[in-house]
Amino acid sequence: MNETLLKTSKLLIASDHADDRIRRKMKHIVSHIHSLPTPPSVFHQINEVINNPDTSAYDVANIMSEDPALTAKVLRLTNSAFYGVSRTVTNVKQAVLILGLEVVKSLVISASVFEMFSRRENPDAGYLDYFWRHSLATAIVARIIARQIRITSLPEIEVAFSAGLLHDIGKLIIASELKDALLEIKKALERDQALAEYGAEIKVLGFSHADIGACLCVKWNLPESICRAVAFHHEETLAGSDPWIALVHLSNHIGHQMDFLDNRYYPNHSPLYDTSWADLNLSPARMDRLVDSLKAEYAGAGIFVNLAKGL
Ligand SMILES: [Fe+2]
Ligand SMILES: [Fe+2]
Repeated sequence: MNETLLKTSKLLIASDHADDRIRRKMKHIVSHIHSLPTPPSVFHQINEVINNPDTSAYDVANIMSEDPALTAKVLRLTNSAFYGVSRTVTNVKQAVLILGLEVVKSLVISASVFEMFSRRENPDAGYLDYFWRHSLATAIVARIIARQIRITSLPEIEVAFSAGLLHDIGKLIIASELKDALLEIKKALERDQALAEYGAEIKVLGFSHADIGACLCVKWNLPESICRAVAFHHEETLAGSDPWIALVHLSNHIGHQMDFLDNRYYPNHSPLYDTSWADLNLSPARMDRLVDSLKAEYAGAGIFVNLAKGL
């Protein structure tokens, strides 16, 4: 492991908002992976100013002006049908004034992640397309549920979207960095139809895509709610313990109900824990309506997948 990575891993392990289990796993993960993606430099600056209550649209626009490529991506997302803005937004200041700081922050997270991964060696185009469609579907459902359950304020609705978008990000690291292990994982899934992908990863690697994803989220200084939801999105929670985990767990499952998904890439389903409905004060009878809302909102969100694929 190189010096920088060693330093990074120590920082991650010492990070305040990584819980004990994530910390232990991180240590194991960074010993297997040579490089973790680093966000564009304006990403951390944006994170800092947005957490400051005195931040203005001008401050955000000023920072973003240092990265025209990222700004262009944020503006493409802003002007997409997904946000339904009636006039064309031509600069970041306008975007903040029209959509609000939290929405723009969530767009900066999305655009930064797309930029980080478009620079890396990625898996085959079919998988990448599947991967981002599923991630986007999960993000959209998480946002729909966060709006409906009213346990969250507006900023948290946008955090829900980011958590959904990033929940499986560790899979891209496995696909690009751990190719031999990926073959073993695929073989294990073929041999045992009852084994979920998540379980096969742990069997082969000792950690899962959820652990790697959490590791990245901690490294990028994302909110604790996102780090925890990504880390535990395949696990059953103790009732009422963490609505964020239940939110992403359930959204992942509903995201898989979309009929565009290709089963070649999603061979073995992980279980849906019924406790997640109760944790969110929702009835399982809502499933069909949530899938319908997802389909309606997804129709305007194709730009996210295009940007993710570098188009
Ligand atoms: Fe997952
Ligand atoms: Fe997923």
